[in-house]
Amino acid sequence: MHHDSADIDTDKRLAAEAAVQEVASGMLVGLGTGSTAAHAIRAIGRLGLDIDAVATSNASADLARSVGIRVRDFADVARVDLTIDGADEIDADFRAIKGAGGAMLREKVVACASRRMIVIADASKRVATIGAAKLPVEVLPFAAAYVADRITGLVRSATWRGEYLTDNGNRVLDCVAGAYHDWEALADAIACIPGVVGHGLFLKQVDAAYIADRGVVTRTER
Ligand code: 5RP
Repeated sequence: MHHDSADIDTDKRLAAEAAVQEVASGMLVGLGTGSTAAHAIRAIGRLGLDIDAVATSNASADLARSVGIRVRDFADVARVDLTIDGADEIDADFRAIKGAGGAMLREKVVACASRRMIVIADASKRVATIGAAKLPVEVLPFAAAYVADRITGLVRSATWRGEYLTDNGNRVLDCVAGAYHDWEALADAIACIPGVVGHGLFLKQVDAAYIADRGVVTRTER
């Protein structure tokens, strides 16, 4: 059966609306980035709870404020209660690839600061094994050529995301890892290259997933 983009957007919204039921007054909530996370931000706004939030991108901070959510500067925050964010791929072991929207570094920091991190997605993001999606690597512009050369030895392909700069003023190398045998080793190898500021492999951060498939939301816990 044909599953068009309107259905996919409905699934994104349903996953988001299910997950935001975990948000309670008094919480400090981490807001993700992307079209699915935007559904969550709007749904949190509609809840009208007394919460504070931190955002993983300038776009999400702007959206949150526009729907009446108090957004704090993450630079002043060490611990987050609950973060809700999208993903580009997620497997049954809660390994995820993130960063199609370019926000993976702030998303990683906020996810690591969070007591609980929930991924929300439509079923197209659920995969048997991660690695087909673009794996974005955030690179200090000063180190561009050096990092690109080093990364080439680790992944199948690496392409600059044009002139795009992240909210942090860095460039993005979109890599394709393919079917990798040892994701921890790849994550460490990429992170160890001087000039790499972050990457979109989330191997340990995700605690739960709300995935919507043709209108039915399923929650799974790590
Ligand atoms: C942004 C991300 C997003 O969460 C991911 O790209 C999913 O986006 P969408 O919900 O629009 O499909 O990691 O950096």
